Amino acid sequence: MDSVLKYLSSNQSRFVDELCTYVRFRSVSAQPQHRPDMQSCADWLVKHCRDIGLQAEARPTDGNPIVIAKTPRKKSSAKRRHFMVYGHYDVQPPEPFDLWKTPPFQPTIRGRSLFARGASDNKGQNLAHLKAVEAYLKTGTALPCDLTFVIEGEEEVGSKSLAGFLQKHRAELACDAVVISDTGIPSQKNPALTYALRGIAAFEIILRGPSRDLHSGIFGGSVENPAMALSRLLAKVHDAKGRIVIPHFYDGVVPLTKYERKQMGRVPFNRNAYRKFLGVPELHGERGFTPDEQRSARPTFEINGLTSGYQGDGSKTIVPSWARAKITSRLVPGQQPAKVIKHIQAFLKKNCPDTVEMEIKSGHGAEAYMVSPTSDDAQAALRALKKAFGHEPVLLREGGSIPIVNQFKKILGADTLLLGLALPDDNAHSPNEKFDLDIFAHGQKLSALLWQELAG
Ligand code: BES
Ligand code: ZN
Repeated sequence: MDSVLKYLSSNQSRFVDELCTYVRFRSVSAQPQHRPDMQSCADWLVKHCRDIGLQAEARPTDGNPIVIAKTPRKKSSAKRRHFMVYGHYDVQPPEPFDLWKTPPFQPTIRGRSLFARGASDNKGQNLAHLKAVEAYLKTGTALPCDLTFVIEGEEEVGSKSLAGFLQKHRAELACDAVVISDTGIPSQKNPALTYALRGIAAFEIILRGPSRDLHSGIFGGSVENPAMALSRLLAKVHDAKGRIVIPHFYDGVVPLTKYERKQMGRVPFNRNAYRKFLGVPELHGERGFTPDEQRSARPTFEINGLTSGYQGDGSKTIVPSWARAKITSRLVPGQQPAKVIKHIQAFLKKNCPDTVEMEIKSGHGAEAYMVSPTSDDAQAALRALKKAFGHEPVLLREGGSIPIVNQFKKILGADTLLLGLALPDDNAHSPNEKFDLDIFAHGQKLSALLWQELAG
């Protein structure tokens, strides 16, 4: 292992250059104009994987290509363990551009941070694993297990193609467990194993009123304003205590155990610092739960985007013809996306005034994920975390979603080890996303040590 670790420490500046190349690709999966960028990013990844000694190819799908890269397989008879390392090369839209201190696809180093869209979510994190394998392959150190990298380009839009791909190639991708670095850690001093993620149910609601935008002076007051109707409707979803009033919404929700509450308590939390960090005058959430519980173990109903009427400069006096909201509910274990959407839909229908037409378009969905933090593999991961970071790891439940982990379990029967490298202030999905370069190095070390612990 010495030569592997030495290789890692003596190549850090090149690795950072490579990460800069990786984040220059505008691989925004949500925006159709970036389709060619998705392909170029996948092609670059394949070449990079080949250069470090992996057998790699970009597999086409109906959506964006999936990069598959394998460590060279030995013909030995001993049954070696096989792990999948999953990551994604697609990124969230960078908008609003004017809030970026330096352009999102022009990587910039300030202090020990690399700023760029995708630096943390997820390019920096999956590159850390590739660099660890490079260290094994380039120093001629035998890997104790077989690895298959699966790096997809649709995670940020619900992983539509990968689910089918897993079905089709389940024999090839069969593995003992999946390893993912696409979650967070509270700080460098609190490396973490995440054992639960929230699920998600996405949909759009459109309210249609007059057949065209109307003069608000001539007609306003005599006709429903769809923006007002939508505001009234959405305002009914929560009560004064921050609880969602939609009938059956909380059906099946599994409460936190004492053990989980204790684990959560191990992570330092300062309410005022959290408030300041978020830039809000006061925190807000479902009463009876701590902010940590609210954002990781409780379901939510969020407006992600709200559009209606005139958005340009100056004023325009109209009654808009329509109003639209993009909504997602984060789900916790025990909830099913299809059922939740059904209950939400029924509620919205019931409460929608008959002065507008309502359309609901349902989007992607995924159940929450939960895995035992005490399995042998989880214990192996905790040992690797401790060695790599030099600190006792914590166990986390996190609020974000990685929809495909459910399919890894259902289709491949494989549990996922979530070993995140993102810091809370990495600005994932926000302007000025960054990745901490010390964590990048720690992540590579973690990956290198992990294979020893898991195979041992
Ligand atoms: N890396 C995140 C998921 C994440 C972040 C999990 C932090 C836990 C903590 C991932 O890239 C992501 O953003 N996923 C989307 C999935 C959605 C579009 C279906 C999400 O959670 O919004
Ligand atoms: Zn993301």
